[in-house]
Amino acid sequence: MSNPDTVPFHLAGAFAPVHEERTDVELEVIGEIPADLRGTYVRNGPNPRAGRSPAWFAGEGMLHGVRLEGGRARWYRNRWIAGAYPPNTSVVRHAGRILALVETRSPVEVTAELETVGPYDFGGALGGAMTAHPKICPRTGELLFFSNGPSRPHLTYYRADAAGRVVHRAAIEVPAMTFMHDFAITERYVIFYVLPVLLGDVRSPVPIRWDDDFPARFGVLPRDGGDEDMRWFDVAPCTISHTVNAFEEGDTIVLDAVRAPRIMMPHALHRFTFDLSSGRAAGTALDPRFLDFPRVHPAVVGARHRRAYTIELCDFGADGSFSRTIARQHDLETGAAVVHDFGDDAMPGECVVAPRPGSDAEDDAWVILFVHRRDGSATELVVLDASRFASPPVARVRLPCRAPLGLHGEWLPDLAA
Ligand SMILES: [Fe+2]
Repeated sequence: MSNPDTVPFHLAGAFAPVHEERTDVELEVIGEIPADLRGTYVRNGPNPRAGRSPAWFAGEGMLHGVRLEGGRARWYRNRWIAGAYPPNTSVVRHAGRILALVETRSPVEVTAELETVGPYDFGGALGGAMTAHPKICPRTGELLFFSNGPSRPHLTYYRADAAGRVVHRAAIEVPAMTFMHDFAITERYVIFYVLPVLLGDVRSPVPIRWDDDFPARFGVLPRDGGDEDMRWFDVAPCTISHTVNAFEEGDTIVLDAVRAPRIMMPHALHRFTFDLSSGRAAGTALDPRFLDFPRVHPAVVGARHRRAYTIELCDFGADGSFSRTIARQHDLETGAAVVHDFGDDAMPGECVVAPRPGSDAEDDAWVILFVHRRDGSATELVVLDASRFASPPVARVRLPCRAPLGLHGEWLPDLAA
């Protein structure tokens, strides 16, 4: 095992890459996997083949999957994504295709057993890279996403229908290519973040830089709109890592996101409002803690949400490392937050919400996540009841090995026959 004193944090302990691909069947389960939880949890993350990389966000992507069916954990698989640029950030399933994503390249399609199919460009409609944070509209089944690139117009917005055909595409002129990791949707709009974080030295492990002279703006665009329909809202300088969710309240758009006043500073939950009548933006802090990896129930994406799940990042080092994480369920109406205690040596990863089949209620769901161990011992897939977040897990699936602490996961429920 790597020695944390001599190697960068992202190559040691819970973060260290693994060196083999494996397939294990019929995993040990502690507790009871709900019988109607049928599908596959898939999580992406960097796993450098060479065993080393300059930063946590670098390195070839590896998918880890756990198949739940009939109250059993049928298999665990981990697979590097194959090809010239294995996307390492996230995964999405839309119109029957499972896509591995990284914001600098086009998607790579994989099978339900995590084998690589190859690059996918929406039948030629995708002209460049694709965000790693596309949104599936729960009302229409559409996939909304964008491409952010170094050449003008820098930003292109796409909407694919429920069958996966790109039916709308709009070039959006922005002054420069900014760091734009995420965006948001509401019932009628999409919201883009054009913030003072520009590309820096590409040889740097984190190739971004802050620009005090670059105006911070949010762009609100009707889902069917083009550049001329964009409404821009000026805001105080800030950076955003991830979207929690957004929704409409009359003529006001409410956006919850993970924000920091500038780069290399702790991010926290923040609520922005954009008044379409007055053209004014406002903002308020929702929770002061340093947290990230926000998730909501998939049925409330673009609609009013009450619950959010985050991971608090703790025990920072000067190298940008963190050595402890805390999983939290937020009630954004009351401001209350509930912690699930996984033990002192645990590092819970992103919480993914798995709806109970037939129900769209935010609390009538399970929360699925990987729980890693600081000492680098084996990982567990944990299933919590969303209505009793602090209670002991409904089920714990013991993986046969360690899955490195990674980035974003998704629950891919079996589709109705
Ligand atoms: Fe992300």
